[in-house]
Amino acid sequence: MKKLVEKHPLAIRWFHWVNFPVLMLMIWSGLWIYWANDIYRIGWGSTTLYKFFPQSFYAATHLDHKLAQGMAWHFMLMWVFFINGLLYVGYTLVSGEWRYLLPNRHSFREAIEVTLHDLGLRKTAPLVQKYNGAQRIAYTAVVIMGIGSLLTGLAIYKPTQFGWLTQTLGGYEAARVQHFLLTVGYVLFFVVHVAQVGRAGWNNFRSMVAGFEIEDVPAAGVTGSMLAQRDPDAKA
Ligand code: HEM
Repeated sequence: MKKLVEKHPLAIRWFHWVNFPVLMLMIWSGLWIYWANDIYRIGWGSTTLYKFFPQSFYAATHLDHKLAQGMAWHFMLMWVFFINGLLYVGYTLVSGEWRYLLPNRHSFREAIEVTLHDLGLRKTAPLVQKYNGAQRIAYTAVVIMGIGSLLTGLAIYKPTQFGWLTQTLGGYEAARVQHFLLTVGYVLFFVVHVAQVGRAGWNNFRSMVAGFEIEDVPAAGVTGSMLAQRDPDAKA
């Protein structure tokens, strides 16, 4: 028999779905700015394995020659990113949702078990609460990355007014590298996150849109309301 189980509070869903397009647009407008001084590459000495970004990339995406537009969008969207992130973190603290999100002492072992399971090297997936260890680590890391992007961004946006911050981060160039690397981190997070969401299936995706998941329960065990609130301490 099927049961509706509430999974994600409305506020979390709003913060999540506001963050996604805003972050994408921040990356896009960031690329408009980066083009004007595109110095990063993977390589050593005069050997370059990969240049961020090759001419073919600019030709395909048309994101060149838009520095002023990029700055205007980037510095407007950073407020939305900041306010939405602040409200999200504030909400998780006040509502107690942080308990599902912060890694605990089981998370690293669980993350290894989940990875082995996902790679087909382990038969059973570990029993978890709302999020498994790998998710807890990834979701906490992405929030810390968000804070990192705001701080490194501020350091290169106002290096005079926030000179103390720029210096703490190792100077303007170092802060700029950190800002860029964090962006690479989001792209990697995004690829793995979306692949895992696709793998988990429609029921899981819908829970981030509609808030509930449909669970199979043994008919004999069902009593009371069909719409049950998930017990925070229950094993999923
Ligand atoms: C780079 C942009 C994204 C970031 C930073 C991000 C971040 C997060 C975070 C932090 C959570 C945990 C939320 C919480 O419970 O407090 C989450 C959950 C989730 N996200 Fe994303 N997300 C992004 C994009 C997406 C996209 C594009 C999709 C859909 C394809 C998606 C689908 C989901 C789903 C379904 C969950 C719930 C997972 C579960 O219940 O196991 N996310 N995401």
